[in-house]
Amino acid sequence: MERTLSIIKPDAVAKNVIGEIYTRFERAGLKIVAARMKHLSREEAEGFYAVHRERPFFKDLVAFMMSGPVMVQVLEGEDAIARNRELMGATDPQQAAPGTIRADFATSIDANAVHGSDGADTAKEEIAFFFGDDEIYSR
Ligand code: CMP
Repeated sequence: MERTLSIIKPDAVAKNVIGEIYTRFERAGLKIVAARMKHLSREEAEGFYAVHRERPFFKDLVAFMMSGPVMVQVLEGEDAIARNRELMGATDPQQAAPGTIRADFATSIDANAVHGSDGADTAKEEIAFFFGDDEIYSR
C-alpha cells in the first residue's frame, strides 16, 4: 500500500468538479483517507512549492494557488503515486492524454486542475505538510 498527496486546484474547485475527480480516484482503486478544503495563504503556497522557488513560473504558480479554495487529499492504494499520475495526465493539459483529468478539466499549465506527488519522498513530505498522522484514516 502506498500513499500520495493530491490537490484539486482552484480552477477545478471553481468548476464544481470535485465529485467527478473523486469518482475517478475511487474507480481507479484509490481510497481517500484524509481530506480538507482550504484557501492557501501566500506562506502556505510558497512553502508547499518551495522546490520551485527559483523557477520562472513560481510567482504565477503561487498567485494561482492562492486565488481560491483548494481540496487537499491523501490517496491510498497499490502504486498510488503512479496511478494518480496516470489519472492526472501530463502537467501541460495540451500534452495530456485523452480521458485524463487534465485533458478533461484543465485549461493551462498553471490552471491544470490537479497536483499529485511525483515520488515516494515528495509524497511523504507533501502529506506531512497538510496532515498529521492522527488525521489520516487508513482502513
Ligand atoms: P504541479 O504538479 O502542481 O507542480 C508545479 C506546478 O507548476 C505544475 O503543476 C504547474 O501547474 C505549474 N507550472 C507552470 N509552468 C510550469 C512549467 N513550465 N513546468 C512545470 N510546471 C509548471
